Amino acid sequence: MTHRSMVELGLAPPDPQFALYGEHVHTEHGHGLGIIGPPPGMPLPEFMGMPENIVEELGRRLTPEQVEIFRPNAFIHGTVFPNLSIGNFLMARDHLSPPSPFLTLRLWHPLGPDKMEVMSFFLVEKEAPDWFKDESYKAYLHTFGISGAFEQDDAENWRSITRVLGGQFAKTGELNYQMGRGVHEPDPNWPGPGEAYPMDYAEANQRNFLEYWMQLMLADTPLHAGNSNGNGKVETSAPAAPKTPAKAEA
Ligand SMILES: [Fe+2]
Repeated sequence: MTHRSMVELGLAPPDPQFALYGEHVHTEHGHGLGIIGPPPGMPLPEFMGMPENIVEELGRRLTPEQVEIFRPNAFIHGTVFPNLSIGNFLMARDHLSPPSPFLTLRLWHPLGPDKMEVMSFFLVEKEAPDWFKDESYKAYLHTFGISGAFEQDDAENWRSITRVLGGQFAKTGELNYQMGRGVHEPDPNWPGPGEAYPMDYAEANQRNFLEYWMQLMLADTPLHAGNSNGNGKVETSAPAAPKTPAKAEA
């Protein structure tokens, strides 16, 4: 069990089914997201306990459907294909502190077949009050910062996976990505975009990621993430002419 020590410290729920109550969402081009709400009987603040002025801002910037999806959720984790991951978690920095939400981005930068550089970013709303920025930063540092308690557990897994995949068995065996296949049906109530399964323990996102990766690797001519005809089918084409970079907006 990866985070057993966190359970013993009172920083993670003892029931591993806590991560079961959510949506497992993927879209075209390999992107995927898990959205986990509180288990039944575990009260958590709405909107991850974000400060009032930020919650008001949500109503102005998001659609009503997006607001309702965000309202009950406590853990959001996902990857923008191929190597930018998002973690938005409501967690306590230690067993004496109340949970605080934080947002982190990860950039996975392969340096070779057995080496990965990971850049970890912490983000917080600039309009948030100073007390919240401080709480959110500390929650990130203590849990999923580079030296955070959860991050250390996960880094151990990543090192083990890399080591094992370089071994003899991995060269001859096949990996199984079937979790949830033929068992989970897409959630008919999901407003979109993408396809969602009403359970976070599944591998539909992983299959979606790898299927798109395979398309890219096997294409005769370069495929580009933007070359969609809008119905989820990826078109093969020559590289598009460079566009004027869009102005970044916060
Ligand atoms: Fe983990």
